[in-house]
Amino acid sequence: MILHTTHNSTNNEPQQDSAIFLKDVSVHYRLPSETIKTFKEYMIRLVKREIERRSFSALKNINLDVKKGEILGIIGRNGAGKSTLMKVISKVLIPSEGRVWINGQISPLLQLGAGFHPELTGRENIYLNATLLGHSHNQIEQKLNNIIEFAEIGDFIEAPLRTYSSGMRARLGFSVATAWKPDILLLDEVLSVGDVAFREKCVDRMSYFRDQGSTVLIVSHSIESVQETCQNTIWLDKGEIVGSGETVHVCDAYQKEMQRKKSKIDGKLF
Ligand SMILES: Nc1ncnc2c1ncn2[C@@H]1O[C@H](COP(=O)(O)OP(=O)(O)OP(=O)(O)O)[C@@H](O)[C@H]1O
Ligand SMILES: [Mg+2]
Repeated sequence: MILHTTHNSTNNEPQQDSAIFLKDVSVHYRLPSETIKTFKEYMIRLVKREIERRSFSALKNINLDVKKGEILGIIGRNGAGKSTLMKVISKVLIPSEGRVWINGQISPLLQLGAGFHPELTGRENIYLNATLLGHSHNQIEQKLNNIIEFAEIGDFIEAPLRTYSSGMRARLGFSVATAWKPDILLLDEVLSVGDVAFREKCVDRMSYFRDQGSTVLIVSHSIESVQETCQNTIWLDKGEIVGSGETVHVCDAYQKEMQRKKSKIDGKLF
């Protein structure tokens, strides 16, 4: 079902106000089509070129034009291709087909704990993570207190990261990724693990960034968070954009579809 096509761009090139532009992007994986029980058998069949593989498309012909200053939600079921899309945009993954244009510096928060080391303390991880994002030692020193204050994890800042809850990791990750105004901020399931108070702080910070011209992409299973934060949303299903446009319409259609699927399953169970 296609709702609107505001993000399904028909242009061939990005426009001046485009922050992220994808043209006919597909990601294909080659997966073994049978189970091979032992490593020895696997190696023998690999050498003999007898491993049968099937092609699987995690993203199919995605066309996307995200404008500067836009907060865009991305929703869809497990395995729909949301994280794959974020990886393609952050250039962690090169698509099998199509082209990706990015206009600006990206601050990605793709996986809880990515860019962190479990044995280092929160404070040490701030240095590690911010360095990976391209900031100098001096720049980090200047922002250190702000980052710690925003994360609100108290004395745990001196404890190793492995002792943190998932919400505390998300707090620290978000705090570092947004300490400097990013041109493009990518958040994959980060808001879902934070508590309400922290989510509200995040929403305020993202609104501030949007007003300053930053672009934010939010992947979430929490429809509430998406509705609260994003004006526009795309709905991915089996690697394709099946709905895009105003959040209220896209989320409504998605929820109806989920309800329909649930009723079908309930009908089979009882
Ligand atoms: N490295 C890989 N090799 C093979 N298949 C992969 C690989 N990475 C992802 N996939 C597959 O691509 C599809 C999309 O995965 P993706 O992680 O993008 O889904 P998602 O929408 O983020 O799901 P979730 O809501 O569970 O996070 C899934 O079917 C997944 O199994
Ligand atoms: Mg995912």
